[in-house]
Amino acid sequence: MMKALVFSGKGQPMLQVRPKPAILKPTDAIVRMVKTTICGTDLHILKGDVATCNTGRILGHEGVGVVEFAGEGVMKFKPGDNVIVSCITSCSTCDYCRKGMPSHCVHGGWKLGNTIDGTQAEYVRIPHADGSLHLMVEGATAEEQIMISDALPTGFECGVLSGRVSPGCTIAIVGCGPVGISAMVTSQLYSPARVIMIGRNANRVELAKTMGATHGIVSGQGVDVVAAVKELTNGEGADTVIEAVGVPATFELCQELVAPGGTIANLGVHGCKVDLHLENLWDKNITITTRLVDATTAPMLIKLLGSGKIKIAGLLTHRYNFADIVEAYDTFGAAAKHKAVKVILHF
Ligand SMILES: NC(=O)c1ccc[n+]([C@@H]2O[C@H](COP(=O)([O-])OP(=O)(O)OC[C@H]3O[C@@H](n4cnc5c(N)ncnc54)[C@H](O)[C@@H]3O)[C@@H](O)[C@H]2O)c1
Ligand SMILES: [Zn+2]
Ligand SMILES: [Zn+2]
Repeated sequence: MMKALVFSGKGQPMLQVRPKPAILKPTDAIVRMVKTTICGTDLHILKGDVATCNTGRILGHEGVGVVEFAGEGVMKFKPGDNVIVSCITSCSTCDYCRKGMPSHCVHGGWKLGNTIDGTQAEYVRIPHADGSLHLMVEGATAEEQIMISDALPTGFECGVLSGRVSPGCTIAIVGCGPVGISAMVTSQLYSPARVIMIGRNANRVELAKTMGATHGIVSGQGVDVVAAVKELTNGEGADTVIEAVGVPATFELCQELVAPGGTIANLGVHGCKVDLHLENLWDKNITITTRLVDATTAPMLIKLLGSGKIKIAGLLTHRYNFADIVEAYDTFGAAAKHKAVKVILHF
């Protein structure tokens, strides 16, 4: 048996004892988790925003561990390997995988902690292990490499690449959580002139400034974010606006911040409908993108992390034993009060 964090209904993360997973197909591996973490998406699941995730599910789609068993069809990994679990399961052979979009893999996609049991447990079964795990590298800590599971590729692929960040551009990022800050950090690979971080949590906005953001705006009652961004950009707005929260108010804010010809790159997980203001945008020549992370850039991001070219250690603020994961959920859910960014669980 093993300990696992189970989605037990709206607002109810519950630590339970569950059977250890077993290999079901030759392409599966069983990973003994060493560290895991909580994602903003887990908070959306607890709010009831993710219809595919049923109660009784073991949550979690991020973490690092050691391969305990590898099915006979697993070629790249063997017991004892230190691995990073990708939030995206990839069969590597279906049409979606072969066109570089494993987020919609017909045998995989975002399954862990969603439609199959996830990584917030002592053991996890990883289907299609060859396409869904990465070897850990020297040069970055295990905690830093957890950011490869989801936050770094999401910020980079759904924010920076979809947002067409280019040298000299101005970026506004709405939402200053681990994913919003990961977008800011990886945007630096393309030398933007300005990165304006917008968030409600003053501590996180300040942190983003120490990690490379040129400007920070703490939003909240009485703060005119649109006016502040316009003032910083000669009245134009931002070339790339990244939505990294997942509520209607922030997507609507993005529509007011985008400059003519710019791009709104949505990466937030939304649980309800949002208004699209075409009466203002129809003549602005803008692009709106949506994306579920593919995590196809993980191998590149692992190299950048291992070589020290991208630095994210500042995001790792709180550490708990796995037995205290319910308390860790409270801390991450009330991040402003606890000055928390990414909360790490040790097994
Ligand atoms: N598209 C994908 O594939 C993908 C992958 C991973 C995460 N996500 C999503 O990315 C988003 C960010 O994830 P995270 O882990 O950083 O989450 P998080 O909950 O830690 O961060 C969200 C941040 O938004 C801020 N915020 C909330 N309301 C706001 C408002 N009205 N204005 C400005 N800021 C506000 C919060 O203070 C918080 O700092 C979530 O929606 C998550 O589900 C999407
Ligand atoms: Zn995540
Ligand atoms: Zn596939």
